[in-house]
Amino acid sequence: MKKRLLTLIGGLLLIGTLSSCGGSSERQADLANGETIYNKACIACHLKGVAGAAALDDKARWEEIAAKGMTTLLDHAVKGYTGKYGVMPEKGTCMDCTEQDLFDAISFMMDKAAVKPAN
Ligand code: HEC
Repeated sequence: MKKRLLTLIGGLLLIGTLSSCGGSSERQADLANGETIYNKACIACHLKGVAGAAALDDKARWEEIAAKGMTTLLDHAVKGYTGKYGVMPEKGTCMDCTEQDLFDAISFMMDKAAVKPAN
């Protein structure tokens, strides 16, 4: 009985560990950090929409982007992405940015554009 209880506890711990990793939707956005990153790197293209980037006040474009969901967007920001509008460079040219920094910057831009990601 005691052994079964330990196995049960072990199983629960394992489930807890597994569900806490992955899923970017569980990430918390630090919008203040996002603004810093945005001002450092993303602003060059994303303020006015240079080279096909979505301008901060272009709500229609940001709605189209938000609909892809955060998991996809973070992946595109980290690895870079070529779409129908142009080329989003790897890490948005912020080579020392962490995934969290990029997540924060994306969240900041969406907040400014007043859109919510699909996930
Ligand atoms: C050199 C210009 C440039 C810089 C700098 C830049 N971007 Fe982009 N970004 C683009 C372009 C162009 C697109 C549009 C690609 C398309 O949809 O064709 C884009 C698209 C995106 C998208 C949407 C991707 C998708 O799947 O639709 C996100 C998110 C994004 N950028 C985040 C960032 C972040 C975060 C930064 C700063 C860390 C950044 N970008 C810096 C040019 C840039």
